[in-house]
Amino acid sequence: ARTAAVIPAAGRGVRLGPGAPKALRTLGGIPMLVHAVRAVSASRAVSLVVVVAPPDDVAGVRALLDEYPAPERTEVLVVPGGATRQESVRHGLEALPDTVTTVLVHDAARPLVPVDTVDAVVEAVRDGGAAAVVPAVPLADTVKEVEPAADGTPEPVLGTPERARLRAVQTPQGFDRATLVRAHAEVTGEVTDDASMVERLGVRVVAVPGHEEAFKVTRPLDLVLAEAVLARRRV
Ligand code: C5P
Repeated sequence: ARTAAVIPAAGRGVRLGPGAPKALRTLGGIPMLVHAVRAVSASRAVSLVVVVAPPDDVAGVRALLDEYPAPERTEVLVVPGGATRQESVRHGLEALPDTVTTVLVHDAARPLVPVDTVDAVVEAVRDGGAAAVVPAVPLADTVKEVEPAADGTPEPVLGTPERARLRAVQTPQGFDRATLVRAHAEVTGEVTDDASMVERLGVRVVAVPGHEEAFKVTRPLDLVLAEAVLARRRV
Protein backbone atom coordinates (compact mmCIF):
# COMPACT_ATOMS: atom_id res chain seq x y z
CA ALA A 1 0.00 0.00 0.00
CA ARG A 2 1.66 3.13 -1.24
CA THR A 3 0.69 6.76 -0.89
CA ALA A 4 1.27 9.11 -3.81
CA ALA A 5 0.72 12.84 -4.18
CA VAL A 6 -0.55 14.39 -7.41
CA ILE A 7 0.35 18.07 -7.74
CA PRO A 8 -1.61 19.96 -10.41
CA ALA A 9 0.74 22.73 -11.52
CA ALA A 10 -0.47 23.43 -15.03
CA GLY A 11 -2.47 26.60 -14.32
CA ARG A 12 -1.48 29.96 -15.82
CA GLY A 13 -2.17 31.90 -12.63
CA VAL A 14 -3.97 34.70 -14.41
CA ARG A 15 -5.27 36.26 -11.17
CA LEU A 16 -1.68 36.66 -9.94
CA GLY A 17 -0.94 39.17 -12.70
CA PRO A 18 1.40 38.91 -15.69
CA GLY A 19 4.47 36.67 -15.56
CA ALA A 20 5.52 33.02 -15.50
CA PRO A 21 2.99 30.19 -14.89
CA LYS A 22 1.98 30.44 -11.23
CA ALA A 23 3.77 27.31 -10.03
CA LEU A 24 7.07 28.67 -11.37
CA ARG A 25 6.88 32.02 -9.58
CA THR A 26 9.43 32.14 -6.80
CA LEU A 27 9.08 32.48 -3.03
CA GLY A 28 12.29 33.17 -1.17
CA GLY A 29 14.05 32.65 -4.50
CA ILE A 30 12.67 29.10 -4.94
CA PRO A 31 9.82 28.22 -7.36
CA MET A 32 6.47 27.64 -5.66
CA LEU A 33 6.24 24.19 -7.22
CA VAL A 34 9.52 23.17 -5.57
CA HIS A 35 8.15 24.31 -2.19
CA ALA A 36 4.99 22.28 -2.84
CA VAL A 37 6.91 19.12 -3.78
CA ARG A 38 9.06 19.52 -0.66
CA ALA A 39 5.99 20.08 1.51
CA VAL A 40 4.29 16.83 0.50
CA SER A 41 7.47 14.76 0.34
CA ALA A 42 8.28 15.87 3.90
CA SER A 43 5.64 13.32 4.90
CA ARG A 44 7.27 9.91 5.32
CA ALA A 45 4.09 8.31 4.01
CA VAL A 46 4.55 9.82 0.56
CA SER A 47 6.84 7.78 -1.68
CA LEU A 48 5.77 9.12 -5.07
CA VAL A 49 4.98 12.64 -6.30
CA VAL A 50 3.37 13.16 -9.70
CA VAL A 51 3.74 16.75 -10.89
CA VAL A 52 1.31 17.83 -13.59
CA ALA A 53 3.11 20.46 -15.65
CA PRO A 54 1.99 23.01 -18.24
CA PRO A 55 1.77 20.88 -21.43
CA ASP A 56 4.19 23.15 -23.30
CA ASP A 57 6.83 23.00 -20.54
CA VAL A 58 7.11 19.40 -19.30
CA ALA A 59 10.83 19.26 -20.03
CA GLY A 60 11.43 22.58 -18.30
CA VAL A 61 9.60 21.45 -15.16
CA ARG A 62 11.48 18.13 -15.19
CA ALA A 63 14.79 20.01 -15.37
CA LEU A 64 13.72 22.33 -12.57
CA LEU A 65 12.79 19.47 -10.24
CA ASP A 66 16.10 17.74 -10.99
CA GLU A 67 17.80 20.94 -9.89
CA TYR A 68 16.05 20.80 -6.49
CA PRO A 69 15.93 17.05 -5.72
CA ALA A 70 13.32 15.56 -3.38
CA PRO A 71 14.42 13.23 -0.54
CA GLU A 72 16.02 9.95 -1.68
CA ARG A 73 12.93 7.90 -0.69
CA THR A 74 10.62 9.98 -2.95
CA GLU A 75 10.19 9.32 -6.65
CA VAL A 76 9.08 12.34 -8.74
CA LEU A 77 7.28 11.96 -12.08
CA VAL A 78 6.31 14.83 -14.40
CA VAL A 79 3.32 14.52 -16.77
CA PRO A 80 1.58 17.06 -19.05
CA GLY A 81 -1.55 18.84 -17.75
CA GLY A 82 -4.86 19.64 -19.41
CA ALA A 83 -7.14 22.60 -20.05
CA THR A 84 -8.80 22.45 -16.62
CA ARG A 85 -7.60 21.57 -13.14
CA GLN A 86 -9.83 18.50 -13.25
CA GLU A 87 -8.26 17.30 -16.49
CA SER A 88 -4.79 17.93 -15.06
CA VAL A 89 -5.57 15.82 -11.99
CA ARG A 90 -6.90 13.05 -14.22
CA HIS A 91 -3.62 13.00 -16.16
CA GLY A 92 -1.81 12.67 -12.85
CA LEU A 93 -4.01 9.77 -11.75
CA GLU A 94 -3.38 7.95 -15.03
CA ALA A 95 0.37 7.98 -14.29
CA LEU A 96 0.05 6.15 -10.93
CA PRO A 97 1.46 2.62 -10.66
CA ASP A 98 -0.90 -0.17 -9.50
CA THR A 99 0.69 -0.34 -6.04
CA VAL A 100 -0.71 3.07 -5.04
CA THR A 101 -3.83 2.80 -2.85
CA THR A 102 -3.97 6.25 -1.26
CA VAL A 103 -3.75 9.47 -3.28
CA LEU A 104 -3.24 13.03 -2.13
CA VAL A 105 -4.10 15.86 -4.49
CA HIS A 106 -2.21 19.01 -3.59
CA ASP A 107 -2.25 22.41 -5.32
CA ALA A 108 1.15 23.72 -6.36
CA ALA A 109 -0.40 27.02 -5.31
CA ARG A 110 -0.30 25.94 -1.62
CA PRO A 111 3.48 25.80 -1.23
CA LEU A 112 3.66 26.25 2.55
CA VAL A 113 1.37 23.52 3.89
CA PRO A 114 2.95 22.14 7.10
CA VAL A 115 3.92 18.45 7.15
CA ASP A 116 1.63 17.85 10.15
CA THR A 117 -1.37 18.73 7.99
CA VAL A 118 -0.20 16.37 5.23
CA ASP A 119 0.29 13.58 7.79
CA ALA A 120 -3.12 14.18 9.36
CA VAL A 121 -4.85 13.82 5.99
CA VAL A 122 -2.93 10.63 5.12
CA GLU A 123 -3.73 9.10 8.50
CA ALA A 124 -7.43 9.94 8.24
CA VAL A 125 -7.67 8.20 4.83
CA ARG A 126 -5.69 5.17 5.97
CA ASP A 127 -7.89 4.83 9.08
CA GLY A 128 -10.61 3.93 6.62
CA GLY A 129 -13.36 6.09 8.12
CA ALA A 130 -13.96 7.91 4.85
CA ALA A 131 -12.88 7.55 1.22
CA ALA A 132 -12.10 11.26 1.04
CA VAL A 133 -10.58 13.65 3.57
CA VAL A 134 -10.20 17.42 3.27
CA PRO A 135 -8.25 19.81 5.49
CA ALA A 136 -10.51 22.71 6.44
CA VAL A 137 -10.43 25.91 8.48
CA PRO A 138 -13.18 28.12 9.93
CA LEU A 139 -13.96 31.35 8.11
CA ALA A 140 -13.13 34.84 9.34
CA ASP A 141 -15.56 36.54 6.95
CA THR A 142 -19.31 36.15 6.82
CA VAL A 143 -20.27 34.58 3.50
CA LYS A 144 -23.28 35.63 1.43
CA GLU A 145 -24.82 34.04 -1.60
CA VAL A 146 -25.52 36.63 -4.29
CA GLU A 147 -26.95 36.77 -7.76
CA PRO A 148 -23.71 37.50 -9.67
CA ALA A 149 -23.84 40.64 -11.80
CA ALA A 150 -21.58 42.28 -14.34
CA ASP A 151 -18.62 44.39 -13.15
CA GLY A 152 -19.52 46.94 -10.53
CA THR A 153 -23.30 46.49 -10.61
CA PRO A 154 -24.77 45.93 -7.10
CA GLU A 155 -25.54 42.23 -6.65
CA PRO A 156 -28.77 41.10 -4.96
CA VAL A 157 -28.05 39.15 -1.77
CA LEU A 158 -29.89 35.84 -1.69
CA GLY A 159 -28.92 34.60 1.76
CA THR A 160 -26.36 34.17 4.52
CA PRO A 161 -25.36 30.62 5.53
CA GLU A 162 -24.55 30.25 9.23
CA ARG A 163 -20.83 30.97 9.44
CA ALA A 164 -20.13 28.47 12.22
CA ARG A 165 -21.14 25.64 9.86
CA LEU A 166 -18.89 26.76 6.99
CA ARG A 167 -15.26 25.79 6.34
CA ALA A 168 -12.69 26.95 3.82
CA VAL A 169 -11.23 23.83 2.27
CA GLN A 170 -7.55 23.43 1.47
CA THR A 171 -5.24 20.78 0.06
CA PRO A 172 -3.78 18.17 0.23
CA GLN A 173 -7.08 16.36 -0.08
CA GLY A 174 -6.69 12.62 0.52
CA PHE A 175 -8.52 9.79 -1.23
CA ASP A 176 -8.92 6.11 -1.53
CA ARG A 177 -7.47 5.76 -5.01
CA ALA A 178 -10.27 3.68 -6.54
CA THR A 179 -12.90 6.13 -5.30
CA LEU A 180 -11.13 9.16 -6.76
CA VAL A 181 -10.59 7.40 -10.09
CA ARG A 182 -14.30 6.52 -10.21
CA ALA A 183 -15.24 10.12 -9.40
CA HIS A 184 -13.10 11.38 -12.26
CA ALA A 185 -14.67 8.84 -14.62
CA GLU A 186 -18.30 9.44 -13.65
CA VAL A 187 -18.67 13.06 -12.55
CA THR A 188 -18.96 15.71 -15.23
CA GLY A 189 -19.33 19.46 -14.96
CA GLU A 190 -17.13 22.17 -13.51
CA VAL A 191 -15.85 21.66 -9.95
CA THR A 192 -13.32 23.61 -7.87
CA ASP A 193 -11.98 20.73 -5.80
CA ASP A 194 -11.61 16.97 -6.02
CA ALA A 195 -13.61 16.11 -2.92
CA SER A 196 -16.76 17.64 -4.41
CA MET A 197 -16.58 15.04 -7.19
CA VAL A 198 -16.53 12.28 -4.57
CA GLU A 199 -19.43 13.98 -2.77
CA ARG A 200 -21.43 13.76 -6.01
CA LEU A 201 -20.94 9.98 -6.00
CA GLY A 202 -22.77 9.99 -2.67
CA VAL A 203 -19.65 8.79 -0.89
CA ARG A 204 -18.82 10.08 2.61
CA VAL A 205 -16.26 12.89 2.77
CA VAL A 206 -14.88 14.21 6.08
CA ALA A 207 -12.99 17.35 7.09
CA VAL A 208 -9.99 17.41 9.44
CA PRO A 209 -8.33 20.56 10.80
CA GLY A 210 -6.34 22.41 8.16
CA HIS A 211 -3.71 25.08 8.79
CA GLU A 212 -3.57 28.81 8.12
CA GLU A 213 -0.21 28.38 6.35
CA ALA A 214 -1.86 26.08 3.79
CA PHE A 215 -3.50 29.12 2.14
CA LYS A 216 -3.63 29.31 -1.64
CA VAL A 217 -1.40 31.80 -3.43
CA THR A 218 -3.88 33.30 -5.85
CA ARG A 219 -3.61 37.09 -5.88
CA PRO A 220 -0.60 39.42 -5.58
CA LEU A 221 -1.21 40.03 -1.84
CA ASP A 222 -0.92 36.28 -1.22
CA LEU A 223 2.69 36.45 -2.47
CA VAL A 224 3.46 39.09 0.17
CA LEU A 225 1.96 36.88 2.89
CA ALA A 226 3.82 33.80 1.63
CA GLU A 227 7.16 35.64 1.67
CA ALA A 228 6.44 36.76 5.24
CA VAL A 229 5.59 33.22 6.39
CA LEU A 230 8.81 31.91 4.84
CA ALA A 231 10.86 34.67 6.46
CA ARG A 232 9.33 33.85 9.86
CA ARG A 233 10.26 30.18 9.43
CA ARG A 234 13.87 31.08 8.71
CA VAL A 235 14.51 32.98 11.96
O1 C5P B 1 -6.88 28.05 -10.56
P1 C5P B 1 -6.72 27.43 -9.21
O2 C5P B 1 -6.11 28.39 -8.20
O3 C5P B 1 -7.93 26.73 -8.70
O4 C5P B 1 -5.61 26.32 -9.43
C1 C5P B 1 -5.32 25.39 -8.44
C2 C5P B 1 -4.21 24.49 -8.91
O5 C5P B 1 -4.59 23.78 -10.10
C3 C5P B 1 -2.93 25.24 -9.25
O6 C5P B 1 -1.84 24.55 -8.64
C4 C5P B 1 -2.88 25.19 -10.77
O7 C5P B 1 -1.56 25.18 -11.29
C5 C5P B 1 -3.58 23.88 -11.08
N1 C5P B 1 -4.17 23.84 -12.44
C6 C5P B 1 -3.76 22.84 -13.34
N2 C5P B 1 -4.27 22.78 -14.61
C7 C5P B 1 -5.15 23.72 -15.03
C8 C5P B 1 -5.58 24.74 -14.14
C9 C5P B 1 -5.07 24.78 -12.84
O8 C5P B 1 -2.95 21.99 -12.99
N3 C5P B 1 -5.59 23.65 -16.28
